[in-house]
Amino acid sequence: MSSGLSAHINPSILNADFNNLENEIKKIAAVSDLLHLDIMDNKFVPNQTFTFERASEIIASSSIGVDAHLMIENPDELAPKYAQAGCISVTFHFEAATSVPDVIANIRSNGAKVGMAIKPKTSFAEIEKYLNQIDMLLIMTVEPGFGGQSFMADQMDKVSAARQALTKKGLNQTLLQVDGGISEETIAVAAKAGADCFVAGSAVYRSDDPAQMVKRLRSLANLELTKD
Ligand code: DX5
Ligand code: ZN
Repeated sequence: MSSGLSAHINPSILNADFNNLENEIKKIAAVSDLLHLDIMDNKFVPNQTFTFERASEIIASSSIGVDAHLMIENPDELAPKYAQAGCISVTFHFEAATSVPDVIANIRSNGAKVGMAIKPKTSFAEIEKYLNQIDMLLIMTVEPGFGGQSFMADQMDKVSAARQALTKKGLNQTLLQVDGGISEETIAVAAKAGADCFVAGSAVYRSDDPAQMVKRLRSLANLELTKD
């Protein structure tokens, strides 16, 4: 029986041209689900991207909805502000939150969907109890911090365990996202393990035709998700 899941593709602009972001976003808007906006504070990860002010401008001007991936220490304070800034969803790191239940509640009460991300060394068992409180689980397939890294296939057991748990709990509306090293070469492996939401940065923006690449990634993932 096929899974009944269908692929969501969220391009990351981490490797796009930061001086021309509106145009970069326009290239993929018509064919993508959400824009994946990577927020890094140079503390939780050894890299820095946008201030809250700059991110708010991007969120306000984006021609598609935004999921903010907050790679920041203590997201308790800023996560609700990203919801207020108009994100469709806000994804925080489990490892960084002071109070996970409060972050979840405060994102939701400010009008956004809730994503929770875990780093490669964090086990699924640690976060399983939160599954029924979130809209998306992000299993990182690289150490967060930089685009263009290699896909960590050793995270696929975690993806499979998460998919099994979601199915068992009747939570197949909850998205299971992978982020890091997703490309034409790796997306089928992640879909086969049970991921249904895919972030792709360099694969999309280093391609000559970003929109075409989004379409190609979607069809490769759907091929796996609809297999008997
Ligand atoms: C990495 C970021 C990713 C990154 C993905 O820390 O969270 O979203 O942009 O880039 P690629 O697809 O190049 O691995
Ligand atoms: Zn990301």
